[in-house]
Amino acid sequence: MDSVSKRYPDGTVAVDRLSLDIPDRAITVLVGPSGCGKTTTLRMINRMVEPSEGSILLDGADIRQQPVNSLRRSMGYVIQNAGLFQHRTIIDNIITVPRLLGWSKAKARERAAELMERVGLDASLAKRYPYQLSGGQQQRVGVARALAADPPVLLMDEPFSAVDPVVRKGLQDELLRIQDELGKTIVFVTHDIDEAVKLGTMVAVLRTGGHLAQFAPPAELLTAPADPFVEDFLGADRGIRRLSFFPSDGLELETGPIVPVDADATRLTPHGSTPYLLVTDADGRPLGWGEPGALTAGAVDAGRLLSHGRPFRPGKDSLRTALDGAVLSPTGWAVAVDGEGRAVGVVSQAAIGEAIRTAHTEDRPEVTAAG
Ligand SMILES: Nc1ncnc2c1ncn2[C@@H]1O[C@H](COP(=O)(O)OP(=O)(O)OP(=O)(O)O)[C@@H](O)[C@H]1O
Ligand SMILES: [Mg+2]
Repeated sequence: MDSVSKRYPDGTVAVDRLSLDIPDRAITVLVGPSGCGKTTTLRMINRMVEPSEGSILLDGADIRQQPVNSLRRSMGYVIQNAGLFQHRTIIDNIITVPRLLGWSKAKARERAAELMERVGLDASLAKRYPYQLSGGQQQRVGVARALAADPPVLLMDEPFSAVDPVVRKGLQDELLRIQDELGKTIVFVTHDIDEAVKLGTMVAVLRTGGHLAQFAPPAELLTAPADPFVEDFLGADRGIRRLSFFPSDGLELETGPIVPVDADATRLTPHGSTPYLLVTDADGRPLGWGEPGALTAGAVDAGRLLSHGRPFRPGKDSLRTALDGAVLSPTGWAVAVDGEGRAVGVVSQAAIGEAIRTAHTEDRPEVTAAG
């Protein structure tokens, strides 16, 4: 987008000289308060709204050089509440664009079945109508419909805003998984900064009047907000959220305090630097923390163990998840597990704090997974 402005006929300037270099095959998020011009910006990309000034190039060519119909068919479009055709079945919704493109019914239906599986919809829903689906399911249909003709570009306008937080998280994870497989160029609008940070490869923060406040990868946004507006928009706990971008695999784990539930009593004395022992089940999965005094009776009363918080996976989870685990346990220690959920070590809040300080001095977040 090259210095693009939109002034509506009533004089409202919705977007003001916006220049953005939207990367290929990545998710670019437009985020900002209500009325800041996000939807207008998105709609200029598929020419549902025509810019008043400036130009938009797609692969180097001005989008005005393309017939508007073919332009729109090369761009899937998903909106809040999915915007499904209420009088059409799920499968007929999904095959809308392929049919417009002249695909045979058989080929289009085959494609629909493949897409329903991809977005996590049971095949049995194909013959239903939108009103017979939950909000989250409808949203998945919206994504499937947008993907149907395999467009290189996906435009998504607050697609997950109308569903509850649990369903929303599921849809976000699903989108990241689909994106991993398909590598679309996605422009995603939201007013939720957490969603922006989780999904975005690049995040554009807009302020009212359609001004670009900052355009940066999420970790950079959290580290160095460009101005007080961006800082305020990021919220009070950006320091904690920034930890999502630091890997946990550098943490030094202790194994001494880990004991199996059937350990003989002589082993039930403190090891390492914690007075607590992490008791694991027969498969090595953490059950909870025991105070050694309470364990030396020879048997472990699982009901009397202290909570071990949420375990983290070194290499997969971030320092934020590790810190969360430590904070959630009354012992102040976090438990590291492997892919099977078996305890591989424990680490104290103090050691995590040390790793955070080191991360500060090195200063460059490394992983892109938010967790
Ligand atoms: N057709 C229109 N005519 C006049 N003004 C409009 C029109 N459409 C949008 N606007 C105005 O342009 C500005 C930007 O609107 P836009 O819908 O792009 O905002 P938004 O960032 O998507 O907001 P929200 O988060 O509430 O969806 C607002 O002030 C809005 O009132
Ligand atoms: Mg909008």
